[in-house]
Amino acid sequence: MEAQTRSLLDQVPPERRAEVETRVETLLSELTLEQKVGQLNQLNADFATGTAVDDMDVERGILDGDIGSVLNVADLEEARRFQKLAVEESDHGVPLALALDVIHGHRTIFPIPLGEAASWNPEMAERSAHVAATEAAASGVQWTFAPSADVSRDPRWGRVMEAAGEDPYLAGEFSKARIRGFQGDDLTADDTILACAKHFVGYGAVEAGREYNTVDLSETALREIHLPPFEACLEAGVGSVMNGFNLYERIPASSNETLVTDLLRGELGFEGLVVSDWDSFGELVEHGVAGDLRDAARACIEAGSDVDMVSGSYATELVGLVEDGVVEESLVDRAVRRLLTVKGAMGLFEDPYRYFDEERRSRRILADDHREAAREVARESQVLLKNDDDLLPLDDGGDVALVGGLADSATDMLGAWHAVGDPADVTTLRTTLTDRVENLTYAEGCDRDGSVSDEQLEAAVRAVTSADVAVVAVGERYGQSGEAASRAHLDLPGDQRALLEALVETGTPVAAVLFNGRPLAIDWEAEHVPAILEAWFPGVEAGPAIADVLLGEHNPSGRLPMTFPVTEGQIPVYYNRLRTGRPAEDAGADLTKPPENPSEKYTSRYLDVPNEPLYAFGHGESYTTFAYTDVTLDAATITAEERLAVDVTVENAGDRTGTEVVQVYVRDVVGSRARPVRELVRFENVDLDAGESATVSFELTTADLGFWTADEEYAAEPGEFEVQVGHAADDITAVETFELVG
Ligand code: GLC
Repeated sequence: MEAQTRSLLDQVPPERRAEVETRVETLLSELTLEQKVGQLNQLNADFATGTAVDDMDVERGILDGDIGSVLNVADLEEARRFQKLAVEESDHGVPLALALDVIHGHRTIFPIPLGEAASWNPEMAERSAHVAATEAAASGVQWTFAPSADVSRDPRWGRVMEAAGEDPYLAGEFSKARIRGFQGDDLTADDTILACAKHFVGYGAVEAGREYNTVDLSETALREIHLPPFEACLEAGVGSVMNGFNLYERIPASSNETLVTDLLRGELGFEGLVVSDWDSFGELVEHGVAGDLRDAARACIEAGSDVDMVSGSYATELVGLVEDGVVEESLVDRAVRRLLTVKGAMGLFEDPYRYFDEERRSRRILADDHREAAREVARESQVLLKNDDDLLPLDDGGDVALVGGLADSATDMLGAWHAVGDPADVTTLRTTLTDRVENLTYAEGCDRDGSVSDEQLEAAVRAVTSADVAVVAVGERYGQSGEAASRAHLDLPGDQRALLEALVETGTPVAAVLFNGRPLAIDWEAEHVPAILEAWFPGVEAGPAIADVLLGEHNPSGRLPMTFPVTEGQIPVYYNRLRTGRPAEDAGADLTKPPENPSEKYTSRYLDVPNEPLYAFGHGESYTTFAYTDVTLDAATITAEERLAVDVTVENAGDRTGTEVVQVYVRDVVGSRARPVRELVRFENVDLDAGESATVSFELTTADLGFWTADEEYAAEPGEFEVQVGHAADDITAVETFELVG
């Protein structure tokens, strides 16, 4: 991909750019070495989002000029007090940058990012990020550590909930949208905050999905899978980037000059700020690549990482390193210049108090249009995984039994990383269905952690037996995904499977609603439960949004952004895989089942489980059906300068209005390196009334066909390509070919 990085200063109105630059240079010349190092020190305030490390008194540190930014300040008055200390009482008067992880909403909590990605509608993410910025920017928050642009193929890794799934292109589109939503066009506006693309880079490749584990990544995988979403972030003008906790070529990302200086700043042209992750500078010692904090600080500043989040290594060691002639002061200046430029771009020098506005805050927090947006995004995030015999939507007037502790758990609906989200703001599924379904009975069935007592089981079986249909809320608790929340088993926690078995046994049809922050391995459920609706963690409007789908007021159109495995043993299992030298698919075997015939040996497959996943990337059903009636390419050959038009005609062949997500994949048939069986290059949501058809046109360029070639450059190689169009990665309805001529 060609880097088209936007500079942070592009987002400063032109008439103010020179002023910011002059201010930064003047400050740099005025600050003492100690004060400059203080700028690079970021401390934690109210609650920890990592292991306890810092012991500096924050207020004292601000006053003494030892702190340049603070994270996890959750209270507006406290934020104002900190800022006042920095601006009015410290010797240098440089305003602080105040940061908080505003990941999927500030107080109006939206679905988790993985859920938003299931909308396949980046506009949803832009809207939610904008709402979040509007609320945060009135509450003392200037800087969010989002979006996560991490791509991961491992659902055991709990952090998949924070990003957009397994596909580099989808992740890039969502990351861009979030940055637009957070930063807008003008960082000095009162409804924008600074974004941070994280975690640079390769963190999603942790071995065995175990949090903070080793990463061992080829350069090809780095460039093709993990880097593209970050390139998209730079294109969107993201102002800051966070180092990952991971290794790349055995060197931690924070001290990895190849990643930070050569790749991010050099090759990709990023001019903004690089902040460490929580104590990631200090962790060089644990990784065994630095003997002590002094060594760690030296390695990180030399690598080009600017701000030290909580390790204290810069604060305690940098002055000495410069005075001893080990580190050049110009490296400190380089980092401080970037931080001050970011502060200038946010308009902090003109008005350091712009973000503290009680009146604006009370007007904006949980405003009606924010809740309405949260409901809409939550509706669009749901994925109908299956719907036998059109069990959903529920018929009017029937007796409905609602079961499951999660159906009434406000806290869990917020998901992990819910900033200042408050369970009191959540409308649960139970609350909404009680309002909207006349004949509803509720039985808890299981605790929120999935444990089932005999009494709970009996009461649930009784309620379901006498109902026409059961809606059963099952899944994970919110803390079972997110940071430091890896799971080796991806089934429903506790006794929830047993509960479902007993309820299915009653003969009453069961629709399961899933709450979870990652793909689950639910093969039993997929076989025995007639309808399954994936709701992720939907946020404050959980109840209304899910009820809209269950009751047929919204036709679900979400599609999976990440593959659901049959079993954990298949992981990693993802759609854009390479072929092998012995592809089982060529032997004509049914790969949705384990092999029956031992003579099928010597192909790439498992003996005991299918090769195919349970639900593929891109999968999602609807209350209507769609037919692809025509797919045409406007040329059989194109040159590198030409574009290829792909026209896709899709028809709503059912009897309800609905939205189809048209998915366009490309396969490079022969390359200098092995190429994936398909890669997503375009998608579009198409709204269609019953019986209606529409033609969607896509334009592909050679940028969509390129890859990291054997010549170690990003290029499209001449030869044959397939354009695959369809409903999901495992439901391709048309394959057309063309040739790229050199
Ligand atoms: C963490 C996370 C990072 C977050 C930071 C600050 O440990 O890895 O994503 O932004 O701390 O809370």
